[in-house]
Amino acid sequence: MWPPNLPWKVRLFVTAFGFFTDASFQRNGTVNRRFINLIDFKVSPSDKRVNGVTTSDITVDPSRNLWFRYFLPSDAEAGEKLPVIVYFHGGGFVMLSPSSQLFDDFCRRLAKELPAVIVSVNYRLAPEHRCPASYEDGVDVLKFLDENPPANADLTRCYIVGDSAGGNIAHHVTARAGEHNFTNLNIAGVIPIQPYFGGEERTESESQLAGAPLVSVERTDWCWKAFLPEGSDRDHPAANVFGPKSSDVSGLKFPKSLVFMGGFDPLRDWQVSYCEGLKDNGKEVKVVDYPNAMHSFYAFPELPESTLFMRELQDFIYPQ
Ligand SMILES: *[C@@H]1O[C@H](CO)[C@@H](O)[C@H](O)[C@H]1NC(C)=O
Ligand SMILES: *[C@@H]1O[C@H](CO)[C@@H](O)[C@H](O)[C@H]1NC(C)=O
Repeated sequence: MWPPNLPWKVRLFVTAFGFFTDASFQRNGTVNRRFINLIDFKVSPSDKRVNGVTTSDITVDPSRNLWFRYFLPSDAEAGEKLPVIVYFHGGGFVMLSPSSQLFDDFCRRLAKELPAVIVSVNYRLAPEHRCPASYEDGVDVLKFLDENPPANADLTRCYIVGDSAGGNIAHHVTARAGEHNFTNLNIAGVIPIQPYFGGEERTESESQLAGAPLVSVERTDWCWKAFLPEGSDRDHPAANVFGPKSSDVSGLKFPKSLVFMGGFDPLRDWQVSYCEGLKDNGKEVKVVDYPNAMHSFYAFPELPESTLFMRELQDFIYPQ
């Protein structure tokens, strides 16, 4: 189940995280937030430079606690306008936030190493707010940026990025945004990182890797129940984008995409189907597949794939 040569610290963290996840997912479909907060260490925004990046939290709509964390690397201070990454964090649609240390660290790394300004979205979580609340929040943040262009950002080079459940949100936000006319903002690409898609069918990767760390089949089934509208099954188009219940997307405005997957991720086969679906509908897709990568490899700078991943992002965002 575990990739070979995984450093013990990564293994320990992932195991502990899985333990707290299981303990906070209740049988009645609610999340024990007090319990999950025990492992979800939070970081405040800071105008002091940490690893070359300052952060601030910007409110979009206080009535639904919609805000984003803005990561500004020092490269932007010289007046250079940087590409913008609108980021959707992972957590099964039900947990974590832009202030979670895991994502604060990760977005800071992206901001500095690419470089780019990062807009990390605090979308509403399930089961309190089911699908499509998070998709609506994402589109509303794009509209907000379009109307309030940040000084150091080149909005014509906007990339929609997300990991795991955030990768799912990145897809649906991009698809919805394709129906909206922006004044300043142009979506140049979408980057789903090990996106969380699914369906009623059981795939080979789900069967072979059923007990995998973080995204065991038991946990992913639980999260779909918490996220999808009451009464729907996993063939709902939010989960099974190119499945039996989905509408035709061939006419949809959709930019080029870069999709990451890993050989130790039970969700891999759904990601393969997703990429095929995009291609069958005439969309441009680049697939990057790391055979030894587990789900969430990108969050651990000590893993070799994490470094390769950063270079792929750079090549995509700064094409030669
Ligand atoms: C769900 O179960 C937990 C723990 O058993 C309980 O504290 C909570 O009130 C329940 N919530 C609902 C909506 O039934
Ligand atoms: C967007 O612009 C196009 C072309 O100008 C127009 O046909 C379309 O109705 C507009 N869509 C919206 C949602 O305003």
